[in-house]
Amino acid sequence: MLRALLLLGGLAPALPAGPHWAYEGPHGQQHWPEGHPACGGRAQSPIDIRTRWAQPDPSLPPVRPVGYHCPDTAAFTLANNGHTAVLALPPSLRLQGLPRSFAAAQLHFHWGRPGRTGGAEHLLDGRRAPAEMHVVHYDAERYANASEAQHHAGGLAVLGVLLEVGADAHPAYDNILSHLGSIRYAGQTTAIPSFSVQDLLPPRLDLFYRYNGSLTTPPCFQAVLWTLFQQPVRISLAQLEQLQGTLYATAAADPKPRRLVDNFRVPQELNQRRVLASFPRGPQGYSTGEVVAITFGAVSSCLCIFLAVHFAAKRMRAKKAQEQDVVFKASSHRAPSDDGPCP
Ligand SMILES: *[C@@H]1O[C@H](CO)[C@@H](O)[C@H](O)[C@H]1NC(C)=O
Ligand SMILES: *[C@@H]1O[C@H](CO)[C@@H](O)[C@H](O)[C@H]1NC(C)=O
Repeated sequence: MLRALLLLGGLAPALPAGPHWAYEGPHGQQHWPEGHPACGGRAQSPIDIRTRWAQPDPSLPPVRPVGYHCPDTAAFTLANNGHTAVLALPPSLRLQGLPRSFAAAQLHFHWGRPGRTGGAEHLLDGRRAPAEMHVVHYDAERYANASEAQHHAGGLAVLGVLLEVGADAHPAYDNILSHLGSIRYAGQTTAIPSFSVQDLLPPRLDLFYRYNGSLTTPPCFQAVLWTLFQQPVRISLAQLEQLQGTLYATAAADPKPRRLVDNFRVPQELNQRRVLASFPRGPQGYSTGEVVAITFGAVSSCLCIFLAVHFAAKRMRAKKAQEQDVVFKASSHRAPSDDGPCP
């Protein structure tokens, strides 16, 4: 992730110098603490979240992305840094709902290999999702950039999104995945048209787990306030296979090409840390998902009945008015919202 962070300042080379590390082999994860002492710390990430032990704290405010829907830039830079695909984000993308105002730095992915199911870093009750996206932010009130913020506890805030496989392709993810062929080899970068980063997130930004942890790659600094969304986002199997099968961990000129696969770290000890949940435990017998579904169902039924009555009444009034020769001018102005097209 450090290499990814170094992209922030617009530094062109995607492969700055630094101690070599990998996920497997002689420089694999069990050896990370040798060159990067923080990797042996007691507040490392990722973790396996035991959902029943997470402490409900419904007072945690929802995460509120500001400016994600219409980024004020025409293009983003997508890079293969030899460890992941990383998309640089402008600091005008702000994250609210955290103790301070955080600015976006970059997002990147962790995945497995073709034909294997697991590739995410955070586990939920021991289960590994096929892939995970991390959106990295830095505390913009205290620090100039992510490189500086990563040296301080609470300097970074990362959103974790678990990616599952569903029936349909996810159009927002295509904005990134369809360009992986242009960054096949480590060190390559490409410009891609900007798009709504908000659309990469799950719909419910108020349902998440929160804990204090670290970067999941060397130098593993323990600077991260983690938010792992409870809802996964579904991409198609073809999209997952693009992520798993396109990139190389080696440069184009390398005579021994190695595929960029299985770039996830094993779960770390929780030690004395708390994991908070933004939502209450569901009543016995119902999972939270079921409670959400039931509540949603009940609310939509009420809404349907209300709308039916409302429109029936409206139609009757309209009919009456027509009889009295009153002309109605209907206008359907949409209130400005963050969901509309960009200006
Ligand atoms: C980050 O900010 C620090 C302090 O202002 C500065 O020295 C450093 O060059 C910046 N790094 C990048 C990558 O912009
Ligand atoms: C994370 O650490 C900060 C202190 O750096 C503390 O105030 C906060 O409560 C911790 N959050 C969690 C979820 O443990």
